[in-house]
Amino acid sequence: MRPLFVFSIIAVALAAASPHAKRAAIDDCLKTAKVPVDAPNSSDWKVDVHTFNQRLLYTPAAIAIPNTTEHIQAAVSYASFGLGGENGHLVLQLDRMDEVTLDTNTQIATVQPGARLGHVATLLYKQGKRAFSHGTCPAVGVSGHSLHGGFGFSSHTHGLAVDWIAGATVVLANGTAVNASDTENTDLFWALRGSGSNFGVVAAFKFKTFAVPSLVTTFEINLPWTNASAIVDGWGKLQDWLKVDMAEELNMRILGNGYQTQLQGLYYGNSSSLKTAVQPLLTKLSTTLSNVQELDWMTAFQHYSYSQETDITRPYSQGETFYSKSLVTSALPANVLKNVANYWVNKARSNRRSWYIIIDLYGGANSTVTKVPADATSYAHRDPERDLFLYQFYDTAWGTYPAEGFDFLNDWVEAFTNGLNATQWGMYINYADPLLNRTQAQDVYYRQNLARLKQIKKALDPAQVFYYPQAVEPAK
Ligand SMILES: Cc1cc2nc3c(=O)[nH]c(=O)nc-3n(C[C@H](O)[C@H](O)[C@H](O)COP(=O)(O)OP(=O)(O)OC[C@H]3O[C@@H](n4cnc5c(N)ncnc54)[C@H](O)[C@@H]3O)c2cc1C
Ligand SMILES: *[C@@H]1O[C@H](CO)[C@@H](O)[C@H](O)[C@H]1NC(C)=O
Ligand SMILES: *[C@@H]1O[C@H](CO)[C@@H](O)[C@H](O)[C@H]1NC(C)=O
Ligand SMILES: *[C@@H]1O[C@H](CO)[C@@H](O)[C@H](O)[C@H]1NC(C)=O
Ligand SMILES: *[C@@H]1O[C@H](CO)[C@@H](O)[C@H](O)[C@H]1NC(C)=O
Ligand SMILES: *[C@@H]1O[C@H](CO)[C@@H](O)[C@H](O)[C@H]1NC(C)=O
Ligand SMILES: *[C@@H]1O[C@H](CO)[C@@H](O)[C@H](O)[C@H]1NC(C)=O
Ligand SMILES: *[C@@H]1O[C@H](CO)[C@@H](O)[C@H](O)[C@H]1NC(C)=O
Ligand SMILES: *[C@@H]1O[C@H](CO)[C@@H](O)[C@H](O)[C@H]1NC(C)=O
Ligand SMILES: *[C@@H]1O[C@H](CO)[C@@H](O)[C@H](O)[C@H]1NC(C)=O
Repeated sequence: MRPLFVFSIIAVALAAASPHAKRAAIDDCLKTAKVPVDAPNSSDWKVDVHTFNQRLLYTPAAIAIPNTTEHIQAAVSYASFGLGGENGHLVLQLDRMDEVTLDTNTQIATVQPGARLGHVATLLYKQGKRAFSHGTCPAVGVSGHSLHGGFGFSSHTHGLAVDWIAGATVVLANGTAVNASDTENTDLFWALRGSGSNFGVVAAFKFKTFAVPSLVTTFEINLPWTNASAIVDGWGKLQDWLKVDMAEELNMRILGNGYQTQLQGLYYGNSSSLKTAVQPLLTKLSTTLSNVQELDWMTAFQHYSYSQETDITRPYSQGETFYSKSLVTSALPANVLKNVANYWVNKARSNRRSWYIIIDLYGGANSTVTKVPADATSYAHRDPERDLFLYQFYDTAWGTYPAEGFDFLNDWVEAFTNGLNATQWGMYINYADPLLNRTQAQDVYYRQNLARLKQIKKALDPAQVFYYPQAVEPAK
């Protein structure tokens, strides 16, 4: 995908003669349509072009800074005039549109598309002690995150961010604004929830919310995975437990890096109920609970945010240089477990790169994520038998990102996929891997839902106004 991890930015495909002519023509069009734009090279331009992943820098043809649905419509309409044929996109920087308003009668929140998760969580809590399920990083934008999944420390209990979308106002490729929900534009609504970046610009969301519990309990469990056979043994026991026994109220992930390997968790209940819920696992793994803390809702969010600030709004200027990959897999058969454990110990722990792996305990019989029927939304990883773990592989560098970093993560992922058949694994577009070609990207991100997505793309955006290198292709 285009600039990775830029926060709630939309790139609209543009074409043009020369970069200068293109920029001048777009700026002129946008000004005529009264869409606010950044002056090239202005201080706002520099803030708005910032990407979290400093490995993937780029220069747009123009940056529109809409703050209304009409601005978005005007920008998309002009873009679709098609100005030529090479690099450069019109970027819509949406982070000025970040209002969050809870209706305390319906408990439905209206959320503008440029809000970041920490801002959303803070305002929903302030306005009515409400929340919806989403990821941990407060600076992540609500749009890309919720339109393509959104997994975090409430997902085993409450599902993905995408499952809390009740409706959206969407600017389509032809500049029309429509509403999508269970009762309006239902094909679009299905496609948006899993693959939204391909079908339009969401100008406003409606999210359902839940009442936050008065306290939750965070905890850690150190894993004595000091050698490959300990990993094989422990992982085998862990996946058997996850498949049938992990309580819905438990939310857990493995965090592994060069220094430690531990389970981190958040339990919807107090510490004594937590102990009862995890004791069978602790016994199987011969380990104990540590760092158990009963916390109120916002403190628990901060606990896993790894950020000093929670309510993050514009401007935001942090970033790092990294390569990242994902996987979603079934339970691992013995031969795969062995290869994975050997790679972890002999290739990952023994190198000096700055890496981590996060393995979310994602599925199983009591996971709310996989209780949603597999075809209810276009989000592809919902099979209760098949989709057990969600992985993020992450490797950071200072300065130019080196070739060995790509090999390091690609080989690790292959340690899994080489022993699995194609139906047993997929990938998660929110941890997009720009090295996948378009065909493979569509297959692994959308799996059994791809054919229907291509039909809807053909109906709504046959000219591919909303384009990035891994975008859904219209059906022929
Ligand atoms: C530090 C960090 C922590 C993360 N933690 C988690 C986590 O805990 N769980 C998890 O599931 N993911 C996590 N992610 C991944 C995150 O969910 C994705 O990066 C997500 O795509 C970010 O959305 P965005 O809007 O900020 O990004 P952008 O890069 O701006 O957008 C991503 C895609 O969505 C499109 N898009 C953006 N806005 C709109 C809109 N209004 N309408 C239509 N399409 C739109 C863009 O064009 C682009 O294709 C994390 C990422 C980072 C960098
Ligand atoms: C952009 O601004 C910098 C100073 O901030 C200047 O050095 C540079 O020449 C400018 N570039 C263009 C293309 O205007
Ligand atoms: C909309 O954007 C313009 C230009 O950036 C700004 O002057 C104006 O104050 C904004 N309006 C609102 C309501 O934020
Ligand atoms: C979409 O819904 C909003 C309210 O959520 C409403 O104001 C607007 O008129 C609707 N637009 C269309 C095109 O139906
Ligand atoms: C591997 O680690 C486990 C648990 O720490 C330990 O009991 C076992 O002896 C180790 N095995 C080898 C071969 O080092
Ligand atoms: C988990 O799900 C299984 C199968 O539906 C059920 O039998 C079991 O009681 C659940 N366990 C917990 C702890 O909720
Ligand atoms: C913990 O929660 C359980 C279940 O809600 C409740 O029965 C119990 O009394 C609570 N214990 C304490 C110490 O609060
Ligand atoms: C893939 O593996 C699954 C689970 O073991 C099995 O049911 C299925 O038949 C296999 N499919 C192919 C094409 O080998
Ligand atoms: C895309 O990648 C897949 C997997 O690596 C490969 O099999 C396929 O040949 C590639 N397709 C193209 C068109 O390059
Ligand atoms: C815009 O596209 C939508 C979806 O294809 C279609 O229903 C609508 O009629 C189009 N509007 C215009 C003005 O062309």
